Amino acid sequence: MEPSVRIKEGETELCVSKLSFSNPHRSVVFFNPRMAFSRSVGSLAIAVLKPKSMLDGLCSTGARGIRYATENPSIKKLVLVDANPLAFPYIRKNVLLNRLSAKTKAFCQDFNDYCFANENSFDFAEIDPFGTPAPFIESTLLALKKPGTLSFTSTDLANVVKKNAPTLRDYGAKPLYCDFSHETALRILLGFAVRKAAEMSLRVTPLLCFFEGYHVKIIARVEKKKPDPKKIGFVSYCDRCLRRFEGKKAKCKCGNRLLYGGPLWLDAYCDKKFLRSLASLNEKRGYAEKGHIAKMLWLLAREQDFPPWFYDVHYFADHYGLAARKKMASIIAELRGAGFKAERTHFTPTGVKTDAGIKELKKILSA
Ligand SMILES: C[S@@+](CC[C@H](N)C(=O)[O-])C[C@H]1O[C@@H](n2cnc3c(N)ncnc32)[C@H](O)[C@@H]1O
Ligand SMILES: [Zn+2]
Repeated sequence: MEPSVRIKEGETELCVSKLSFSNPHRSVVFFNPRMAFSRSVGSLAIAVLKPKSMLDGLCSTGARGIRYATENPSIKKLVLVDANPLAFPYIRKNVLLNRLSAKTKAFCQDFNDYCFANENSFDFAEIDPFGTPAPFIESTLLALKKPGTLSFTSTDLANVVKKNAPTLRDYGAKPLYCDFSHETALRILLGFAVRKAAEMSLRVTPLLCFFEGYHVKIIARVEKKKPDPKKIGFVSYCDRCLRRFEGKKAKCKCGNRLLYGGPLWLDAYCDKKFLRSLASLNEKRGYAEKGHIAKMLWLLAREQDFPPWFYDVHYFADHYGLAARKKMASIIAELRGAGFKAERTHFTPTGVKTDAGIKELKKILSA
């Protein structure tokens, strides 16, 4: 083992490499302290869903699965899988530290191989890969019981935000580089899981999806039900007048050639009832990220009933040469006063979700 250190994250003791705190990517067994937020949210999701069996597919030190099982007594069976043999001293130590030996099994194996040999076995499956989760989604869906819950992380946002070739290769979709790219990226990732599941005659329905820092997290219900193809489509965008709309068209009203992104998920990406349950549990748990989680859940609950984009008001004002920098609170109040829906978004502090068009927004930002 590399020089290691014992930490407490959430309510869980973890032994991780010391390098995790200076340069996690140099450690032979990866652990990123900056993902504590994501692990805490995942643990709250487990508390709401109460799965009995859980698979942590690319577990490294076992941090996610071990946190979920330590903090949530519903889990009676925990399986940890990682292909790196050097992860196993950490896994063994972390299982012992949290007294989980009786309910835990760990396998040093390729994750896809493990899933193909263990179909329909888990209520909840988690994958947290380096970069794209695409090569692991189909096998995770296989390993899940139906109904079950799929939870995955994507840290390949640099690609899904703007790079055509890798996004096409990994997700069969085109990214859209614009002021709301992170929302498009989240929708491409969710849309990919929905499309993969549809090929297996399964329906994926999002419970909680968010962007944070440099990753997207998707938690979604998987059921043996007919998929709904109407929820997958495209978003078009004009980089001259900044109009945006659902669907794929060649030309904008202003005469410019339109850009598009997709296929992607067009509907809500969170279930509001699920968000409420998470918020009330978050109040009861003493996580270090409690305030940050509460704010994120509050924003997510408000931004669901809008078209699949937001406006970055700074980008908009710069693009149109509007000098005034209005406060977000007044922009939202003025949009509402003019009869439109308007809310902030968790994607960026300068983003506004609204059903207003560019003309109305321009008027409000110019005044
Ligand atoms: C980002 S790390 C996981 C981090 C961990 N979930 C956490 O919260 O600390 C990704 C892990 O996937 C493992 N991995 C990569 N490809 C794999 C495969 N095909 N099968 C099993 N494990 C794999 C790596 O060894 C690495 O430990
Ligand atoms: Zn235009």
